[in-house]
Amino acid sequence: MPAPATEQPSAGPVPRHVAVIMDGNGRWAEQRSLPRAAGHRAGARTVRTTIEHSVRRGVAALTLFAFSSENWQRPAEEVGVLMQLFLEALDREVAELDAKGVQLRFIGDRTRLAPALVARMVAAEARTAGHRQLDLVVAVAYGGRWDLTQAARQLAGKVEAGTLEPGMIDEAALGGCLTTAGRTEPDLFIRTGGERRISNFLLWDLAYTEFWFTDTLWPDFDESTYEGAFADFAHRQRRFGRTAAQLGSS
Ligand code: IPE
Ligand code: IPE
Ligand code: MG
Repeated sequence: MPAPATEQPSAGPVPRHVAVIMDGNGRWAEQRSLPRAAGHRAGARTVRTTIEHSVRRGVAALTLFAFSSENWQRPAEEVGVLMQLFLEALDREVAELDAKGVQLRFIGDRTRLAPALVARMVAAEARTAGHRQLDLVVAVAYGGRWDLTQAARQLAGKVEAGTLEPGMIDEAALGGCLTTAGRTEPDLFIRTGGERRISNFLLWDLAYTEFWFTDTLWPDFDESTYEGAFADFAHRQRRFGRTAAQLGSS
């Protein structure tokens, strides 16, 4: 549901953890007869404003999908532009995130990323480690299936080493091997750009997340649109399998 332009901060509960598929950069550029790279550059600006608004509204954790396992299949030129933009964004933004008390971490398959980029990512994680204002995770070269697969590999390794009985593998054991281990599960999932799909984002973690979709293209996603998602979220009844009557009496 697109938000009205005058959306005010909603009075209801703010999601503690928001997960976002930032989609629509390419179409935003194409609508303006610009190269797709211009859309990605505009999208990077929206990342900054979204982080700022999350901090203002007291969101505790934010997970942003920046580049999926499947995005490697894009033309090499576009992949190169995106990698260059990540590098530039890190160089430009990390000091500000550090000053704002934002803890920045990355999830995804780092073996596929250039060593220079990984080095910047590691440095940014070290610099912002322990900050509590916002737990920000950026998913780069990430896929939900990749995450589940690497978790399975870890568990198999423990079984082989004799430190884990197969019968002891429960949801906590598997969840504890995911790259998202230790974080709360997302309360609110937002996808911009009009598509209604997960596109291999956090497959395990989104099991009970509230979904919110908007046709707004990511570079146009602003405070007002974000507030629209919050307002909608505030009216959701999260039952986690129970009945509404059970919730009312709890
Ligand atoms: C999202 O925008 C950014 C990435 C996937 C890296 P897109 O590039 O997918 O934009 P559209 O969907 O083509 O408009
Ligand atoms: C999902 O967007 C991935 C990111 C936003 C990083 P895509 O644009 O790649 O998704 P599909 O391929 O249209 O599902
Ligand atoms: Mg897209």
